[in-house]
Amino acid sequence: MKKGPPYPICWNKGHLWLLDQRLLPHIVKYRQIRTIKECHEAIKSMVVRGAPCIGFTGLFGLVLWVHSRRSILLDDFISAARFLKEARPTAVNLATEIDSGILLARNLEQSGRLRELPRKILAFAQMRMDSAEADNLSMAKAMADELKKKYGTRPLRLLTHCNTGVLACGKLGTALGAISFLHGKKRVERVWVDETRPYLQGSRLTSFELLHEGIRHDIVVEGVASHLMRSGMIDAVLVGADRIARNGDTANKIGTATLAVVAFHYGVPFYVLAPTSSFDLSIASGEDIPIEIRDENEILCYGGVNAKRIAPKGAHAFNPSFDITTHDLITGIFCEKGSITPVNEKKLLRVTGGEKK
Ligand code: MRU
Repeated sequence: MKKGPPYPICWNKGHLWLLDQRLLPHIVKYRQIRTIKECHEAIKSMVVRGAPCIGFTGLFGLVLWVHSRRSILLDDFISAARFLKEARPTAVNLATEIDSGILLARNLEQSGRLRELPRKILAFAQMRMDSAEADNLSMAKAMADELKKKYGTRPLRLLTHCNTGVLACGKLGTALGAISFLHGKKRVERVWVDETRPYLQGSRLTSFELLHEGIRHDIVVEGVASHLMRSGMIDAVLVGADRIARNGDTANKIGTATLAVVAFHYGVPFYVLAPTSSFDLSIASGEDIPIEIRDENEILCYGGVNAKRIAPKGAHAFNPSFDITTHDLITGIFCEKGSITPVNEKKLLRVTGGEKK
């Protein structure tokens, strides 16, 4: 039997364990998370990462909080939830999942059943994580159909950025899930994996997952995209998303927008795959998406948790963790509810079910 990558989030007999993704690929180690504070810190410091997974972890953080109380007051629960939401600002999944947890608590209180929250919130967190598999599979199938229309069934050369597999999504993955699905149909010739500076999600995590799947791939520096596209060596670019605005503008890992501009220039199709929990229909465009600025040492130093300083003493760095790809550069967005092609507000609202009545 094929052995997939280890699960990033495990709830086992009342305990939350997170795979420490900062140590991958060489060390596979789980950390036990005991409190909501530890959960907040694990999300912020990227023990766990990837938009869907930080959303699920947020829900399990609420489970930890609820299980640690003798009695629950709705207002205290909401304050705890707000604290967790602040751990990372760009991926809307964290807020979306936590807001669903708040709604669950409010509904229980209204019907006088708030004491059922410990059981209900755990069941909800587990259900949300489990449903990712079917959702991701449906977008993978739709992506495969789209590529078949363009290229028939010939094996494809695909480029991906950051990490959008099991490690980021809990199950299967979004862009990487589609690549894995296509590989299962013998429709992948080669995957180009952007190393994804500065955190190296590509060379550390995506490569780790592709090796588990036995998928032929090469790690490349981000700057190589133009060379590969100009040389006709990429059939399509597949990426994930951290937040998608109503008009289709998409926030994703820094470097995504540059890739999209180059792909547009060379006429290479550029696709975004993301669950509807990554859509933020409350905002009109990418202008309104908050961009996380991370510590400058992630750039000035190299080598993850045992980092060595590379830049000279006294040098500074600017480290925005995400960028915005405007909708005009995106060939299509795929979610579990369908495909958004061309990418515009009307189509996006129709597919996601967010259209105004
Ligand atoms: O900073 P990270 O590693 O959490 O960023 C992750 C990404 O940007 C992913 O591409 C995105 O979350 C999509 S994951 C399906």
